[in-house]
Amino acid sequence: TYVVTDNCIACKYTDCVSVCPVDCFYEGENMLVIDPTECIDCGVCEPECPADAIRADTEDGMEKWVAFNGKYAALWPVIADAKEPLPEADALDGQPGKLDLLFS
Ligand code: SF4
Ligand code: F3S
Repeated sequence: TYVVTDNCIACKYTDCVSVCPVDCFYEGENMLVIDPTECIDCGVCEPECPADAIRADTEDGMEKWVAFNGKYAALWPVIADAKEPLPEADALDGQPGKLDLLFS
């Protein structure tokens, strides 16, 4: 599976959702996640993210992100159409410690 990681937080560019063939992105207030049980591992979303927030679960340290994506995919609504990024997306792209911003 592919997963969304913390640099999506406060950016939410949404370029990823337009290319997903199975519509398995789910939208929180300031971040998206992928449902790991629905993702077919096609990989087309990974290069689309301007914030480089999408990763394959085969990379090191991804276990916690698979669990995180699965948890929130079950709680958040599906998003299939791209929308405007969050207003501070470019300013906050790459900022460390973004998990603290998740629900702020
Ligand atoms: Fe969707 Fe493919 Fe990305 Fe999985 S890898 S989230 S199926 S675009
Ligand atoms: Fe987030 Fe990147 Fe998609 S910032 S909304 S994973 S394009």
